[in-house]
Amino acid sequence: MRLNKYIARAGVCSRRGADEMTAAGNVKINGKVVTTLGRDVADGDVVEVNGQVVSPAKSCVYIALNKPKGYITTVSDEQGRPTVMDLVADVEARVFPVGRLDADTTGLLIMTSDGDFGNAAAHPKHEVYKTYRARVEGIVSHEKLARLRRGVEIDGRMTSPAKAEFVRQSSGSTVIDISIREGRNRQVRKMVAAIGSKVIDLQRISIGDVKLGGLKAGHWRKLTRAEIDNLR
Ligand code: URA
Repeated sequence: MRLNKYIARAGVCSRRGADEMTAAGNVKINGKVVTTLGRDVADGDVVEVNGQVVSPAKSCVYIALNKPKGYITTVSDEQGRPTVMDLVADVEARVFPVGRLDADTTGLLIMTSDGDFGNAAAHPKHEVYKTYRARVEGIVSHEKLARLRRGVEIDGRMTSPAKAEFVRQSSGSTVIDISIREGRNRQVRKMVAAIGSKVIDLQRISIGDVKLGGLKAGHWRKLTRAEIDNLR
């Protein structure tokens, strides 16, 4: 990759700005000042601008979105329904959803412009715990929570061991947290159906170390460096 493109992709400045900094002697490759423009950066080269190591990966954007109900997790919808893309139009890069949430599920959705990360993180082998807060009909006994933990049969196949915790009881419904590593279609709703209850509301509250926290519905925030590194 050309040096000026490399620096621009690292989010330092424009390509022209990169050329100016290079000509001014502020750029080093592998510890040596480079003043000639148009140099290529090879794999493994270390580029410094004003003494700081920079790399193009930093220009990728990683966000946490609090998806409201009714939004489809897709890039475009043939039926013209609102999609999560409508909520991230103000992000500086084009970001794509990592995994998906049902239209009627709310909560944490990670989106990124980093295609490699998106594909890798969505792969089942990564097995990061995703936690869902579910308000379900009726009373959920300890025995039923234990069944959710051990695994229940959905679509003819057992679910992997999960975490399931009681959160609170309200009149006619129970709030529970369910953490799963798989991502089967409508998995939590089907797991709750398998113990003879029904999900009233479902919200994803965390993915690995990334927490929804107080992020408002329809709003997004950037992931921190530590959150990105942990997910990797
Ligand atoms: N499980 C569900 O049932 N729905 C989701 O959106 C995610 C997990």
